[in-house]
Amino acid sequence: MKYIIGNWKANKNLLEAKDWVDKCISTIKRSQNILNLLSNNSLSIIIAPPYPYIGLMKEYIGDRQGVFIASQDVSVKEGGSYTGEVPAKSLADFINFTILGHSERRINFSETDEQIHEKIVNLKKYNIEPVLCVRDENDVIHNEVRYIAYEPASAISTGPIAKRVSAEDVAAMKKRLNLPPESKYLYGGSVNADNCQEYLKNEEIDGILVGSASLDPYTFCSILEKTQ
Ligand code: PGA
Repeated sequence: MKYIIGNWKANKNLLEAKDWVDKCISTIKRSQNILNLLSNNSLSIIIAPPYPYIGLMKEYIGDRQGVFIASQDVSVKEGGSYTGEVPAKSLADFINFTILGHSERRINFSETDEQIHEKIVNLKKYNIEPVLCVRDENDVIHNEVRYIAYEPASAISTGPIAKRVSAEDVAAMKKRLNLPPESKYLYGGSVNADNCQEYLKNEEIDGILVGSASLDPYTFCSILEKTQ
C-alpha cells in the first residue's frame, strides 16, 4: 500500500477547489490503472484542502474506496469557548487523517512538540489518524503516531532553499528515526511528477506528501498514475 497525500496548504478559492475535484475525479474514473490500485488496496489517496473545502470534498468523494480527506491541522483545544479554533470533534465526520507538525507551522506559528502532543490526544479520541511531520531526528516522535512524514524544511519546494533529498537519504533517515515496526513512513519535499517514482519504488518508503505539485489536478493524477 502506498499513501499519496496532496497538501494544498493555504491555496485555492471555491471555484478553483471545485474545478480541481471535478478534474481529478474524472481523470481517476478514466484511469483503469488508478482504479485497480484503489480497488486492490495498493493506493490510498489523501487530499488535504483548507478547512472551508473539507465539507465540499466529502460531498464529492463520499465513501469512495481508497480516497480520504485530511485536515492540515487541528485545534489544540478539545472544543468550547475558543473563537476561531477548529477542534477534532468538528472534523471527525469529514476526515480520516490530519497533517500535524508541518515545518511551516512549527516555524511560522511557533508550534511546539507539547502542543502537537495535545492535538494527537484530541485526534485519537475521534479516531482521526495524525500524520506527523518531522524535520529530522530532533523532532519528537510521539508514541501514539503510526504515520510519520519526513519533511526536511530545506527540501520544501516553496522554501528559500529547496534542496532535494534522494530516496536513499530518505531511507537512511528512517533508520535514524528509529520508528516502531508498524509505522508508515512517508516523505515530503519537492516531490513532483518527474521524481515521485524514485520514492514510490523504494521499499522503505510507504508514501509521499506532495505540496506544490498537488495543486494542479492533472499533475497530481499523473503522480497517482506512477504508483506501483
Ligand atoms: P512541496 O511541499 O511538495 O511543495 O515541497 C511539501 C510539503 O510542504 O508538504
